[in-house]
Amino acid sequence: MAANGTANQHAVVLILDYGSQYTQLITRRVRELSMFSMLFPGDASLDRIKSVSPRCIILSGGPNSVHVEGSPRVPDGFFEYCGENNIPILGICYGMQMITHILGGEVKPAVHGGEYGRMPMDIAPSSQLFSFLSSTTVNVWMSHGDEAVTLPAGFTAVAKSHQGAIVAIENAEKRIYGFQFHPEVMHTEHGMEMIKHFLIGIAQVPADWNMGQVLEEQLKKIAALVGPEDHAICALSGGVDSTVAATLVHKVLGDRLHCVFVDNGLLRFNEQQRVMDTFINHLHLPVTCVDHSKAMLDRLKGMSDPEAKRKAIGAEFIEVFKTQANEIEKRLGMKPKFLVQGTLYPDVIESCPPPGSGQKHSHTIKSHHNVGGLPKDLQFTLIEPFRELFKDEVRAIGRLLGVPEQFIKRHPFPGPGLAVRVLGDVTEEGKLDTLREVDEIFINTIREYGLYDEIWQAFAVFLPIKAVGVQGDQRSHAHVVALRAVTSADGMTADWYSFTPAFLRDVSTRICNKVRSVNRVCYDITSKPPGTIEWE
Ligand code: XMP
Repeated sequence: MAANGTANQHAVVLILDYGSQYTQLITRRVRELSMFSMLFPGDASLDRIKSVSPRCIILSGGPNSVHVEGSPRVPDGFFEYCGENNIPILGICYGMQMITHILGGEVKPAVHGGEYGRMPMDIAPSSQLFSFLSSTTVNVWMSHGDEAVTLPAGFTAVAKSHQGAIVAIENAEKRIYGFQFHPEVMHTEHGMEMIKHFLIGIAQVPADWNMGQVLEEQLKKIAALVGPEDHAICALSGGVDSTVAATLVHKVLGDRLHCVFVDNGLLRFNEQQRVMDTFINHLHLPVTCVDHSKAMLDRLKGMSDPEAKRKAIGAEFIEVFKTQANEIEKRLGMKPKFLVQGTLYPDVIESCPPPGSGQKHSHTIKSHHNVGGLPKDLQFTLIEPFRELFKDEVRAIGRLLGVPEQFIKRHPFPGPGLAVRVLGDVTEEGKLDTLREVDEIFINTIREYGLYDEIWQAFAVFLPIKAVGVQGDQRSHAHVVALRAVTSADGMTADWYSFTPAFLRDVSTRICNKVRSVNRVCYDITSKPPGTIEWE
C-alpha cells in the first residue's frame, strides 16, 4: 500500500527532520493531538513535499550549525511555495536558525557559550505564538550553541531568555514562526499547549486523526485492494504487530487469509501453546503451526558465532515460509497474491543522519533485525496496514479489534528467539530448557510484583560458564544465568531497570531453589549503549 495513502484523507502536518533526537517525539506529539503527521528527511525535494499537500510544516532541531558547509536545509523555492499556498511554518531550534539565516537575518555562536537545559524566558505582551498564555515568564528547555542575533525583515522577537537570547520569533503576515527551545520535551512548561496553539490556533489544522477512523479506513482500503477471489498469507511471530495486522486483515478476508506460525525451537516456555491459544480461541485466526524445531536445532548444532547463528535462523525461516506458501498454493489451486506484514512507521522513516556519519539518509531499523523478514523475490503484493503508525497506535487498534490486553502489552521478543540469549552453541546440554525455566520464573515474579508494564523488556540469559557453589551441603559446579530488564522508549537506547534489593533477593532465591542446575544469578547493569538489549 502506498505510504502516502493516509495523506489523501487527512490534513498533513509535515515535519522535516534536521537530525534532532527529539524529531520523532514531535511527530508523535502531533498525533497525540489527533492530527496526522509525517516525517521527511530535512533535504527532501520540493516535489516530495508538495506531493503530500501539507497543511503546515515544522522544521525540527538538529546538531548542525547553519554556517557549516553542507549543513542540511530546506530545498530552493520552499518559502515561496509555502507563501503562495498559505502554509504556516514553525522552526524549532536549528529550524528557527535556518529560517533566520535563509531569510536574511543573522545567526551567530552564542556569547554566553549557548544555553542548555532549563531556562526562564520572558514573553512579549502581544505575540501570536503565546496569545493563549496568561503567564509572562515560562521555563523552557534549551539545547543550542548558535542563536539568532538579527532577525529578517518582517520578523519580531516575541520572547527572550534570561540570558538575553532571542528565543521565539514570528512574522504573522507571512505565517512563519520559530522557537529556539524545545516545546516537545516534557520539561518545557506549557510545551504541548504551545504546539497545540500553533497547530489549531494558528495553522487551523482539523483534529481528525483517531484510531477508530484509521481502522475503518484500513478496512475499506484492504477491501478495495483485494479482489473477491484473492488470498493472502501472513507470517505470525507471536508479537503484537503481526498479530494485530492479521486480525485486521482477517476481518475483511475471513478464511482467504492464511497465517503461518513457525515454532523454530527457540521459543520461550510454553510459547507455542500460549500464542496458538490466543490466535485460535480469542482471535479466531486461520493459522497453521509448523513445528520446525528439530531441523532448526540440527542446523544450529556446533554453531557459536552470533552472526552465523542469526543468519542461519533467518535463512531457515525463509525456507519454511516458502514451503508453506507452496503448500497453500497447492491446496488452493492458485498462488496467494498478497502478503500481510506488521511493518511500523519507525521502520520506514528515513531520518537525517548524524553529522560526519558520511551517510545520506539513515534508517532507524538495524539491518540484523531483518532476520525473519521475507525476501522481495517472493513476489507478493504487500499489505502493510501499519506503515504509517507508531507502536502505541497499533496497540490502540489491537484493543479496538479485541486483541487481549495481556497480549497487547507483551514485551518485544527478537526474531532469532532464545538463540540470542544462549551464548554460544544453543543446542548443548539442555541449555534452552534451563533458560526457559529461569525466564519463566523471572517474568512471573515481575508480574507478581506489578512491574511488568513499567519495563520495556525483561528476560534471562544463559551464560557459557559454570561456577562453584554449595547446594544441600555439597559443592556444586553448576550454571550461571544473567537477568536483564531495561526501560526504553523505542529500543534504540535503553537503561537497566532499578529493581529493589528485596525483589532481586526474592527472584534469585526462587531461581536457585527451582532450577537445580543453576547456582548463580547475576543482574545485568549495562545500559545501551555501550551494551545492546539482547546479548548476541
Ligand atoms: P538490541 O539487542 O539490538 O535490540 O539492542 C533492540 C530491540 O530489538 C529487538 N531485537 C530484534 N527483533 N529481530 C527482531 O525482530 C531481531 O533479530 C532482533 N534483535 C534484537 C530486541 O529484542 C530489542 O527489543
